[in-house]
Amino acid sequence: MKRALVIGYPVAQARSPLLHAFWLREYGIAGDYGREEVKPEDVATFLRAMPARGFAGCNVTIPNKEAAFQACTRTTARAAALGAVNTIWFEDGEIWGDNTDGLGFVAHLDAVHPGWDTTNQRILLLGAGGGARGLAMPLLERKPMRLAFSNRSEERLGKLVADLTMVAPEAPVDLVPWDARDAALADFDLVINTTSLGMQGKEPLALDLSRLPAHAIVADIVYVPLETPLLASARARGLKTLDGLGMLLHQAVPGFEKWFGRKPAVTEALRAHIVAHLA
Ligand SMILES: NC(=O)c1ccc[n+]([C@@H]2O[C@H](COP(=O)([O-])OP(=O)(O)OC[C@H]3O[C@@H](n4cnc5c(N)ncnc54)[C@H](OP(=O)(O)O)[C@@H]3O)[C@@H](O)[C@H]2O)c1
Repeated sequence: MKRALVIGYPVAQARSPLLHAFWLREYGIAGDYGREEVKPEDVATFLRAMPARGFAGCNVTIPNKEAAFQACTRTTARAAALGAVNTIWFEDGEIWGDNTDGLGFVAHLDAVHPGWDTTNQRILLLGAGGGARGLAMPLLERKPMRLAFSNRSEERLGKLVADLTMVAPEAPVDLVPWDARDAALADFDLVINTTSLGMQGKEPLALDLSRLPAHAIVADIVYVPLETPLLASARARGLKTLDGLGMLLHQAVPGFEKWFGRKPAVTEALRAHIVAHLA
């Protein structure tokens, strides 16, 4: 019986067990996916003990992604650029780590808006936290014409852009001052909210979409609620939208394939199953 789990601190909020259990049932795989609360300072010891406990790997959630990165003996280039991992597996005595959050976002974008990257894309990413970091490299791999970042804290924004410029010196990355974000929208084809604004219990993201071109896509990585105030106003303006749930579903695909040996599909049935448990 193959086993995997998600580790975080706390971990009760993690939705990964729901979706991996769905796939295990769907494909009739004799496996188990659990959850365990692990403090950041205990992550390295926990990971090293996992193979002997029969685990094939794990997902890592807040606040353990950086600690898990430190504990890995090998990582993908993508994870190295971020300094954070969300997916761990064991191979040839090594602890491997990858970061699949951004891959999940782009896979969802491809699924819902195929061909989005066939024209020169100008992308505005709002936020500079873990979510923004996760999206940056997979978006750059699609060769946008421009990838701009805007964030309330200029210090955090400056650090993110400096780190990106180190790993991708030729990347067309620049900054939009937080107070200039509304006026700047006229120059973008894809706008992505990676701040926590708009999530349940938080104020909405203040963004006036009126200057955004009519062909633009508005995306949110917040998925509770599924339709954030930002997405509702984009829909009201007739713009294309992308919700945050698809990213959560797609980021789980590489881990499931590594641990349980089958590439799972992100289907409407899976989505409906998770939506039913979101509230
Ligand atoms: N769909 C998915 O699979 C997925 C994956 C990861 C995260 N998420 C969601 O994405 C959101 C962000 O996660 P994260 O890990 O990036 O969080 P994080 O690292 O804590 O970053 C939070 C971001 O939100 C900004 N922010 C917070 N309050 C703000 C306010 N009042 N005004 C302006 N900006 C504000 C922060 O700006 P400052 O730097 O100025 O503080 C920062 O850019 C969360 O809601 C999370 O649930 C979804």
